[in-house]
Amino acid sequence: MHTPICDRVGIEFPIFAFSHCRDVVAAVTNAGGFGVLGATGHTPGTLDIDLTWIDEQTRGKPYGVDLLLPASYAETSGEPRLPTGHQAFVEELLARYRVPGLPADVPAATGSISVSARDAESLLDVAFGHPIRLVASALGPPPADLVARAHEAGVVVAALVGTAEHARRQQAAGADLIVAQGTEAGGHTGTISTMVLVPEVIRAVHPAPVLAAGGIVTGAQVAAAMALGAQGVWCGSVWLTTEEAETHPSVQQKMLVASSADTVRSRSLTGKPARMLRSAWTEEWEGEKAPATLPMPLQTMLTAGAQQRINRHAATEGSGAQQLATYFVGQGVGLLDRVRPARVVVEQMVADYVAVAERFAAQLSEGAQLSEGAQLSEGQHSE
Ligand SMILES: Cc1cc2nc3c(=O)[nH]c(=O)nc-3n(C[C@H](O)[C@H](O)[C@H](O)COP(=O)(O)O)c2cc1C
Repeated sequence: MHTPICDRVGIEFPIFAFSHCRDVVAAVTNAGGFGVLGATGHTPGTLDIDLTWIDEQTRGKPYGVDLLLPASYAETSGEPRLPTGHQAFVEELLARYRVPGLPADVPAATGSISVSARDAESLLDVAFGHPIRLVASALGPPPADLVARAHEAGVVVAALVGTAEHARRQQAAGADLIVAQGTEAGGHTGTISTMVLVPEVIRAVHPAPVLAAGGIVTGAQVAAAMALGAQGVWCGSVWLTTEEAETHPSVQQKMLVASSADTVRSRSLTGKPARMLRSAWTEEWEGEKAPATLPMPLQTMLTAGAQQRINRHAATEGSGAQQLATYFVGQGVGLLDRVRPARVVVEQMVADYVAVAERFAAQLSEGAQLSEGAQLSEGQHSE
């Protein structure tokens, strides 16, 4: 399983784990993989707290951070005004599904996410104060100063892409490691499948290292990704049903019973197409009465408070909140049917990968023996 990217970032197994949850990041790093903390929902203060905690848990083992740096977003300052029609649509939806409000002492989620260059800059100031080995960016090429800063510090710059064209652009902007993320993936995703995208991206950016992402939750899939030429895998969904994950229990329960057909690409949470569980929420946003979604980050600001109420009341009797509950997850959700510790997920991926490699090796030697036998008997017949 050892590939050049393992030496480049100092890991045993080329299994990269994207998670917003610091416990998952530390657990995967400690299991010999590479944890990457999604920092978009962090403030500089909370990022510093989480990275300090990860430093303590991982004691010098490698990890990274991920920022969303979208090529396009709505510039916001202070508290932007959200269109009243959109607010009324969300309120009507919550009322129709009988979702109660929050208790007076619970502050409403603001949904503010760090997606501007200015926000990213202050998060990076914090991140570079910690021994990170990788910084990843999604949705747009990394800015030149990020690349220069990372390279000066010996930090690998990774970039998520959904097309070969995006991969070329990311490489030209200075990305060292390309993550080819197929449409199967949870979160923001394009339309091309992992099986097709990975070899296309490898060809486009050769000889740069490429990781495969999207739909990968088992060791056999890791083997398949590496058979395609990827140097490893980058997974997000598989960690959502781990013991360490902060996934809301109501959503986690839905994930454990969901099939691969139960996800949908929807703009309803962030304004950009992202794969998530199909639910009454995503269906309502597809309805005739639904307004067009707002540009990032306004759609998140519009919906964060509603999502908080929905999750909080998922188990409330008489409420339809559970029908609305959704979260980002990929098509691999169909294979997630148990809650396991993140370390066990890594161990099982490695064991399954080895089993596949051994099966292939056995088939090859069996095949060689068969053809040797055939040649022998052919020789005997011709004698
Ligand atoms: C809950 C969730 C949130 C995500 N948020 C981000 C993000 O903020 N930044 C990012 O680069 N990728 C994000 N992703 C995508 C992951 O980095 C990864 O590419 C993807 O999960 C891989 O596909 P998989 O979900 O099938 O494993 C997210 C994925 C999930 C499941």
